[in-house]
Amino acid sequence: MTEPPSPLHDRIHYPGGAWEHSHPDRMGANARTFGLRPAPVERCRVLELGCGAGGNLIPMAYGLPDARFVGIELAARPVEAGREFAGSLGLSNVDVQQLDILEIPADLGEFDYIIAHGVYSWVPEPVRDAVMSVFARHLAPDGIAYMNFNALPGGHLRNLARDLMRFRLSLSDDPEARGDDAIRFVRLVADAQPDGSPYRRILEEEIVRFEHNPVGVLFHDDLVPAHRAFHFRSVVDHAERHGLRYLCEARPADVHPGRYPAPIQAAVRRFGGGRIAREQCFDFLVCQMYRCSLFCRDGVALAPIRDLDGMNGMRVAADLRPATEPADLTDGIVATYFAPDGASVDLEDSAAKAALEILAEHWPASVEIERLLRDARKRAGRSGRPTRFERREFAEFLATNHAMGLTDLHVREPRMVTVAGERPVASALARIEIERGARVTSLRHRQVEIDDPIAAEVLARLDGTRDLAGLHRDAVRALPGEFFTCDQIEAALRGLAYHGLLER
Ligand SMILES: C[S@@+](CC[C@H](N)C(=O)[O-])C[C@H]1O[C@@H](n2cnc3c(N)ncnc32)[C@H](O)[C@@H]1O
Repeated sequence: MTEPPSPLHDRIHYPGGAWEHSHPDRMGANARTFGLRPAPVERCRVLELGCGAGGNLIPMAYGLPDARFVGIELAARPVEAGREFAGSLGLSNVDVQQLDILEIPADLGEFDYIIAHGVYSWVPEPVRDAVMSVFARHLAPDGIAYMNFNALPGGHLRNLARDLMRFRLSLSDDPEARGDDAIRFVRLVADAQPDGSPYRRILEEEIVRFEHNPVGVLFHDDLVPAHRAFHFRSVVDHAERHGLRYLCEARPADVHPGRYPAPIQAAVRRFGGGRIAREQCFDFLVCQMYRCSLFCRDGVALAPIRDLDGMNGMRVAADLRPATEPADLTDGIVATYFAPDGASVDLEDSAAKAALEILAEHWPASVEIERLLRDARKRAGRSGRPTRFERREFAEFLATNHAMGLTDLHVREPRMVTVAGERPVASALARIEIERGARVTSLRHRQVEIDDPIAAEVLARLDGTRDLAGLHRDAVRALPGEFFTCDQIEAALRGLAYHGLLER
């Protein structure tokens, strides 16, 4: 009798990592904008399905020591690696279990947040259905579930290159060794097309993506036999059959018309139907390829917040810079602000402009919303208490910019400092990660590439025992032949602080 093949994830490493929008802080903030009151993040219970080596779950557990984390993973090697990673950080609040999603026992318990990243579109149908059953069985009454999937119609375009690669790999006895060969085959087909033809352009875009990603991503995300993309509507139907309700996108900007050109916005205004039908129409309009969606239980009422009272205790962070600094804060003078990804917003209200100025000064830290309004009004020269109208306008300003991905709403603040102290400390998590490779996780649960060797050396040594001179001395020793000054160490520290890697 032949043995069943070992799971692909035991044979080909998947790089995994932190997915910012799957963090309970971001899920909780999104849920609050719909009037939900999810469990406090500091003490929440989190389950991750298909957690791999814990690249997402373990950084969460590090940042939330009083919360409890369970990861479920089928393949043995990632489980071993995850346990070793959690052990190296001395974490006792995370449990990575080798288990099939199909066999999760009923007594696993109840969770406030359940995450399935990289699962739904990439597993066979029975497992896909089991993911929804696990949400239904194990989600707390006010819990939130996160699930990403490849969406249609964009998935049809991606299938063009995927089909070519699958065909090429089917000719090989050793498909796993032949990723490069499969990409070369897609290039051969692309190059044979007339310049600018739609087929050529689509294949070329996919080649760029394949070449940019490690081979593990190619095999697990693109070539896994079970792969399927779905219409948003069909995923929502599936969730509803399991007693779940679509809440919103974990990255609301993915479906915000304001992020798209004017003709798209004009077309969106012509859509009828309910929210789900409109979002499905939107996917057709923008040729959506990918979604990260949030779900709650179907009895939960959604009441989008309209006033600052509904945002009580929430925080906001943003790194938006005016086109010309400093911006003119005068009421009625338009200033354009840009996010690091190039997205922009025009503002003319003095308090709104002052708010963005204050947030940029605090970045990457967040500011409590009532305090932001108070300080922004003061900076804008307004006296007295804000009127109810002004409070509503400010809430609208915050909610719209959050929905457009320009500002980040939070429900907690990590133990982070924005300016390096005399003997700076980086998170133990980032120090361990930088010893293993260039990608580290910020205290905001973002993946940060450290490609500057000086910054990497400095980061590895930020355990609170060295001052600037000590950091310089040790970095010089570690990088023989390189010449650099203490100013460069200071610049590296500013960069690490900017990315949310320094701890209190
Ligand atoms: C694409 S990876 C995603 C890993 C991680 N969640 C991430 O996003 O970085 C999918 C993971 O799900 C696991 N998986 C697939 N089928 C599973 C099943 N039936 N039960 C448990 N885990 C499964 C795979 O072994 C793999 O580690």
